[in-house]
Amino acid sequence: MKNIEKIVMEKLKEDSTGHDWAHIDRVRKLALHIGKIEGANLKICEIAALVHDLIDDKLFSDEDAALQEVVQLLEKEEIEKKEMDQIVEIITTMSFSSGPQKGMSTLEGEVVQDADRLDALGAMGIARTFMYSGAKNQAMYDPAILARTKPMSKEEYRQGKSTAINHFYEKLFKLKDLMNTDEGLRIAEERHTFMEQFVEQFLAEWEGKDVQ
Ligand code: ADP
Ligand code: NI
Repeated sequence: MKNIEKIVMEKLKEDSTGHDWAHIDRVRKLALHIGKIEGANLKICEIAALVHDLIDDKLFSDEDAALQEVVQLLEKEEIEKKEMDQIVEIITTMSFSSGPQKGMSTLEGEVVQDADRLDALGAMGIARTFMYSGAKNQAMYDPAILARTKPMSKEEYRQGKSTAINHFYEKLFKLKDLMNTDEGLRIAEERHTFMEQFVEQFLAEWEGKDVQ
């Protein structure tokens, strides 16, 4: 596990889009927490959490090559073929932007997907959204740019002009209802409420309503 950690840390150390090592480490801890309660295979949960962003198309332009690299990395560790297949299946199907949600096919996949989604919620979610928007030169808010709430293709989702506040409506507020596990849902509900309060306060301050 230490070796996998070292390589993931090395690959993500320059990231400014919210996929830094600290994100990976939080997702790993969440996955182990939920996985334990759900009775999942914790080795699979931990490895999948560690490598889940190594094939993200925002970070690595050639997804197939990136996946091959992950496979090679895992082949050097003590991982059986069956475990390898499961890890590959999890990381290639778990992302929000990979299109219509089909649901994960294993308990471990459900756990890791929940863990990754939880780190997009709450205080961490708010902070990461503003970091990402800053890195992409997006405004934090613009009342003239409407949130894109209709179903979008991956390209539209990535390339259309939006704002940090719109991202809450386009993605973050939808995540709670997509949680797979009971424990994931429990944590998501708390983090969801916190984000709602944040956006409400943000808009009140924007419009000067809190000083009247
Ligand atoms: P994940 O890998 O967790 O499925 P993403 O890769 O889409 O999520 O995004 C990584 C982080 O950047 C998340 O916290 C997410 O909310 C934020 N983010 C992604 N797209 C946008 C966007 N268009 N505007 C603002 N924040 C974004
Ligand atoms: Ni992630």
